[in-house]
Amino acid sequence: MCGIVGYAGHRRADGVLLQGLKKLEYRGYDSAGIAVCSAGEIFCEKKKGRVGELQAIVEAAALDGHVGIGHTRWATHGAPSDVNSHPHLNGSRRFALVHNGIIENYAALKDALLAKGYRFRSETDSEVLAHMLEACDCESLLETLVQVLAKIQGSYAIAVLDREHPEEIFVARKSSPLVIGLGDGENFIASDIPAVLEYTKNMYILEDGEIASVQAQGVTVYDAKGQTVDKKVYQVHWDATQADKGGFADYMRKEIYEQPNALRKMLDAYCKDDKITLPFQFTRKALQEIKQITIVGCGTASYAGRVGEYILEEITGIPVKVEVGSEYRYKRSILDASNLIIILSQSGETADSLASMREAKARGAKLIGVTNVIGSTLSRELEHVIHTMAGPEIAVASTKAFTSQILALYLIGLFLAESTKTISESQYQAYISKLRGIPEKVEEILRREREIQSIAEEFYAYEDMFFIGRLWDYPIALEGSHKLKEISYIHAEAYEAGELKHGALALVTSETPVICLSSIAAIADKMASNIMEVKARNAQMIHVRSEAVPPAPGCKREFLLPQEEDLFTPILAVVPLQLFSYFTAKYRGCDVDKPRNLAKSVTVE
Ligand code: G6P
Repeated sequence: MCGIVGYAGHRRADGVLLQGLKKLEYRGYDSAGIAVCSAGEIFCEKKKGRVGELQAIVEAAALDGHVGIGHTRWATHGAPSDVNSHPHLNGSRRFALVHNGIIENYAALKDALLAKGYRFRSETDSEVLAHMLEACDCESLLETLVQVLAKIQGSYAIAVLDREHPEEIFVARKSSPLVIGLGDGENFIASDIPAVLEYTKNMYILEDGEIASVQAQGVTVYDAKGQTVDKKVYQVHWDATQADKGGFADYMRKEIYEQPNALRKMLDAYCKDDKITLPFQFTRKALQEIKQITIVGCGTASYAGRVGEYILEEITGIPVKVEVGSEYRYKRSILDASNLIIILSQSGETADSLASMREAKARGAKLIGVTNVIGSTLSRELEHVIHTMAGPEIAVASTKAFTSQILALYLIGLFLAESTKTISESQYQAYISKLRGIPEKVEEILRREREIQSIAEEFYAYEDMFFIGRLWDYPIALEGSHKLKEISYIHAEAYEAGELKHGALALVTSETPVICLSSIAAIADKMASNIMEVKARNAQMIHVRSEAVPPAPGCKREFLLPQEEDLFTPILAVVPLQLFSYFTAKYRGCDVDKPRNLAKSVTVE
């Protein structure tokens, strides 16, 4: 999704901005631009395409400016093009502005500006802001911003340059993330922490409604009315190397390989002395009140939620449902303190997940957040939060965050069952020891990646694939097909294995390989019948099975998962599917880290 960077300091701004934009590339974008105050003018260059293309033009301009802003755009209003790229300028080129988010009332604002004679160059919603700054023009830019932002409906993170005050950048946010990196005689602006981490670990994280003036020598933060705010410095506890590729060819591969350690780290943090301790303040009475659990997430997080539905129901005996954020936020659900809503979000910034969280909070439900980003909006707005500790996830296609979210759901389930005494001590201990064994089994699968690579080598050229599974193998099938679509652009669909014959079986032929997941020994014979059904339609089958599940005759290839008790197979079953998508995408020549049209952090509705 769109990314913002900014710089005020002693270095040349263009270099810092281009470097920052490269760090934000992982979020997904289609065009990029920068604006720098140089020799009393605002220099602005913006282009459809990659930051590399912009870099050549900017370097040729040899700008001697030390204050500037930059942007990567992910198109919402208006197609990707040079003119729709940010920064946007007002007519007299006094203001340059970059914006993330969506201005929902932009059409009415634009009509009013057109009626006053303002001319628009782009089709974007964002350009209205540049003209509104000129139209309002109060004594100070702070006052102007207070007035302009009060008229905006929707979400925004913005950064503004003013030719009349070339030493200063103004920024503001509402429902779209923005951080200010605090340096020595220099300060940085970015949409997320990795973009400035090589310069500083001290940050201000702007809250909704806040405005800030950023200069080389200092930063002043104001509230929405323009009153100064005392801001706490937030210290980042991880370093820039964690956001590097660390010798791997791509972030996605590195992140797949980081899974065993990410899981271990979480187990060490939350499971001490054979007891699961989560950072929650719920009383036992409050936990006993819970009669319904709803898990909310988007994309991969929603599939982790669907795995969690089975885990939590099995462990706690409480009914669980799963909703995607974009739907849940508009449902008129009747909620009270007997409802526990678990919000899953790697970034902690996904607009639909945050809106769902706020809605559920307002309706009186209990809430738990699960996020990978300390300091994210989700972690700041909720009292009860589990951090997944997987380290920065940069590849758009989520891998380590998914397995960490599933682990978090096991931990929540066991925590609830133990706190309400609905699980025996021996069962509780047996489950904990199962969890402790998972990282090593993931390592074992990773050591056998060559087997999966050779399956990908055989099947990468097909254009349609099916994934089938039963019970919790089904959400793993959903996640497997999701991964394949995201990074290899193969059309892939996942079905509950027993449902295929109610429609989609009509599409199964020798040209549609079927990946059959069979990790649950208790229903292996049911799955075997479904495999026979696709075999009878000449499909080529890849069988991913547990050791306890018998081989299926006629499968072209198979991958054997390490032995595990049924309820603990999901994390193991997904790893070969991640690797299969990865290698398939590589064989097809795709950019695995930055798939077309997709964004890492979706901060708009
Ligand atoms: C985007 C990403 C997905 C991710 C989803 C939810 O669509 O491309 O990989 O699963 O957002 O993100 P979250 O940060 O809320 O888990």
